[in-house]
Amino acid sequence: MSMKPGFDTLRSHAARLQGAHSSSLLAKDPARARDFALRQESLYFNFARQSYDRDALDALLALARSRDMTGAYRRLFDGEKVNITEGRAALHTALRGDHSGAAIAREAYATASAVRLRMGALVAELEASGITDIVSVGIGGSDLGPRLVADALREPAGGRFRVHFLSNVDGAAAQRTLAPLDPARTAAILISKTFGTQETLLNGGILRDWLGGSERLYAVSANPERAAAAFDIAAERVLPMWDWVGGRYSLWSAVGLPIALAIGFDRFEGLLSGASEFDAHVLNSPLESNISVRHALTAVWNRNVLGHAAHGVMTYDQRLALLPAYLQQLVMESLGKSVKLDGSPVEGDTVPVWWGGAGTDVQHSFFQALHQGTGIVPLDFVGTIRNDDPYAENHLALMSNLFAQAEALANGQSSEDPHRAYAGGRPSTLILLDALTPQSLGALIAMYEHSVYAQSVLWGINAFDQFGVELGKQLANGLLPALRGEAEASDPVTKVLLAELKARA
Ligand code: F6P
Repeated sequence: MSMKPGFDTLRSHAARLQGAHSSSLLAKDPARARDFALRQESLYFNFARQSYDRDALDALLALARSRDMTGAYRRLFDGEKVNITEGRAALHTALRGDHSGAAIAREAYATASAVRLRMGALVAELEASGITDIVSVGIGGSDLGPRLVADALREPAGGRFRVHFLSNVDGAAAQRTLAPLDPARTAAILISKTFGTQETLLNGGILRDWLGGSERLYAVSANPERAAAAFDIAAERVLPMWDWVGGRYSLWSAVGLPIALAIGFDRFEGLLSGASEFDAHVLNSPLESNISVRHALTAVWNRNVLGHAAHGVMTYDQRLALLPAYLQQLVMESLGKSVKLDGSPVEGDTVPVWWGGAGTDVQHSFFQALHQGTGIVPLDFVGTIRNDDPYAENHLALMSNLFAQAEALANGQSSEDPHRAYAGGRPSTLILLDALTPQSLGALIAMYEHSVYAQSVLWGINAFDQFGVELGKQLANGLLPALRGEAEASDPVTKVLLAELKARA
């Protein structure tokens, strides 16, 4: 079905609102400051500084209805094969809750729950051992989610274990990770859905040799037999995952074992319960109050109607400093597509460049460009109302900066001196967590997962495959013989580069 009619309507609204500052929209409709906000439990989202008005928002919601958004979520939660190019379901929701009466989804929930029991037993076993350090080896979805959540929720001085993450194939990463550790007091978890990922296999070999064998090696994979055989890992130390969970949606599975070791198994279960509560919000809310749908419609308005080519996530909570990096994979590996489900070209732009950083550091880095640059970058600001550190004055300063930046970007400031004028009209969504807890972080991540899915439905693309990562891998494997001097490269520039490398090595 063509997206064109819906987008044409939206563009007519944008023309009607031409250049409307959110500040002028607020002047016309002061109630939007409150009305353009939505809440789910301890999470609050204020969209008042976006540049659509009530009529444009109605048109956005009409677009969502025209794409059967409610039915699309039902199909996702029921375990239908929404990942049509790989003929798979995408049942990350079944990892954390029993939200569907469909047999497939209920069976997935039961299977995941049984593995979660095994996870808990492994955590207890390791907690009773003399192990002090855990090295989690994985990359992409087998790294970014665990790394984010373990860092966000760990105790300031560290918990029962020091958990280290090793992802890059660059040997410097392994060297710097292992140098300060004692192999006798270290266990390693090899996480790889396919167990065919070059980086993880190479780093896994380094860990096995460094540990002096596989006795303290664990593995998580959708290919448990391959994992066990490749590294001689006893079956009881291999936890399964499944093809019906995408790698970048998998932290809720046994991929989250390093999380559970870093923050405790009970708090890991709290993370899942927070996500599950948000799942219920997405399933049961009317579209107009569905936060993920509103977030997705806002993204489509900024991308397809206003043509903005980037989206920033600025986390005014240092514990969420890794959220932008995690979201880069979740969003850009899911939505970085240019053909629709039927293989025809998409009818407009899809994912913008997602990036971000932690406030207030970002104000001393790239915020100049956000305030006075020629491009407009819509932002998500994420803040936490209750701090969990003893520095009250710092928290007041952090929150004052958070609110000030959003206000300044939106309202700007005129000046006789053009060098000191701020155009304003920079849109943002303000996301406030009551506190950073396992539950609130689980809900926040689920919100983004479901916004990504809603955007894929609006664009008519598959959020769950990632064929675009294959060519680079194939070429890299093909260049290894040339790097070893055993063959010639075919690409003329690569050939020159290899000659330079050889001459300088
Ligand atoms: O980036 C490609 C990718 O396949 C991701 O989708 C995935 O999360 C990552 O590589 C790691 O894959 P695996 O978990 O199979 O090692």
